[in-house]
Amino acid sequence: MVNFALFGAGRIGRMHAENLARRSDAKLLYVVDTKPEAARALAEPLGARQATQEQALGDKNVHAVLIASSTGSHADLSIAAAQAGKAIFCEKPVDLTLEKVNQCIAAVKKAKVPMFVGFNRRFDPSFRNLKQRVDAGAVGDIEQVIITNRDPGLPDLRFLATSGGLFLDFTIHDFDMARWLLGEDPVEVFAWGAVLVDPRVRTEGKDIDTAMLLLRTRSGKMCHINNTRRAVYGYDQRIEVFGSKGMLRAENLTPTSVESFGAQATCADNPWPNFQTRYTAAYAAEMASFIQSVEKKKPAEIPPEDSRKVLLLCEAALQSSQSGKPVRIKN
Ligand SMILES: NC(=O)c1ccc[n+]([C@@H]2O[C@H](COP(=O)([O-])OP(=O)(O)OC[C@H]3O[C@@H](n4cnc5c(N)ncnc54)[C@H](O)[C@@H]3O)[C@@H](O)[C@H]2O)c1
Repeated sequence: MVNFALFGAGRIGRMHAENLARRSDAKLLYVVDTKPEAARALAEPLGARQATQEQALGDKNVHAVLIASSTGSHADLSIAAAQAGKAIFCEKPVDLTLEKVNQCIAAVKKAKVPMFVGFNRRFDPSFRNLKQRVDAGAVGDIEQVIITNRDPGLPDLRFLATSGGLFLDFTIHDFDMARWLLGEDPVEVFAWGAVLVDPRVRTEGKDIDTAMLLLRTRSGKMCHINNTRRAVYGYDQRIEVFGSKGMLRAENLTPTSVESFGAQATCADNPWPNFQTRYTAAYAAEMASFIQSVEKKKPAEIPPEDSRKVLLLCEAALQSSQSGKPVRIKN
């Protein structure tokens, strides 16, 4: 049994807390939030208690922390948790700066605790099956990867202002998928970013809402990523891997598979509407992986070093979108 303290009672914190409550090998003891009333409202119906950071980290019955608070707090909380000897599950991104990510990696290494970064898409059953087939040689030599990641609608503009921006908050998942699927680190990034959805994204969110990117690895494999914060038909999540022997494609998932055939048209469900519904299985599976690593004292399946590699891609994308030129990465 792994006992947890959860940091952050927002959108993703709620989803993780409810997930833990369904598990027989985990128990949520505490919820910590800078808004104690939000922590209490989430904790009490699940049989947990609202606590301060000091109470949660000071309790020796807490084996692991689940960091789902706002992005800017992840690194400091991870370092404090490592120093308290707790295993760490941290939502992406670990931090917006390389310096802080490096500090986290050092703290975790020193404390000899596992740290897992929540790149949940690697645990989606369809994407995982696709990856297993790629590794088994189904497409031969990989030549091109296409990743489509479109949000259904804008998040709260206040969230955007603290998120680190589209590349660090959103494209970061695609960079992780790109590295995972290509099996190599990209060495060059070209990115275009724009505000096409809502001008308030620029004025209030200090961000962009639309992007297209190209990545290239040292051996010449290519990847194309496309992002937007508004797809009127739902949460658009697709992957295509093309190679010398063919192609593998993972399509959108829908709430039902029912199709309606009329005189004029055939209709089917739109994709799932948001990350909570689309990646339900992935969030459960990533938590199972983390709990296994804690129980069996094994390294985490997605360590913070991966987050560091992804941050290099995010920084290159930002630089490229500002300069209009491709940016080389020194891995
Ligand atoms: N993996 C995914 O699919 C996914 C999806 C959504 C969000 N996220 C990540 O999860 C994090 C939270 O996102 P969200 O959408 O839930 O945000 P949110 O704004 O809904 O919730 C964040 C919560 O953290 C609390 N908080 C802030 N600083 C804190 C601190 N020092 N200690 C404890 N609580 C603190 C806030 O009061 C708020 O309740 C972000 O880093 C985001 O990038 C990941």
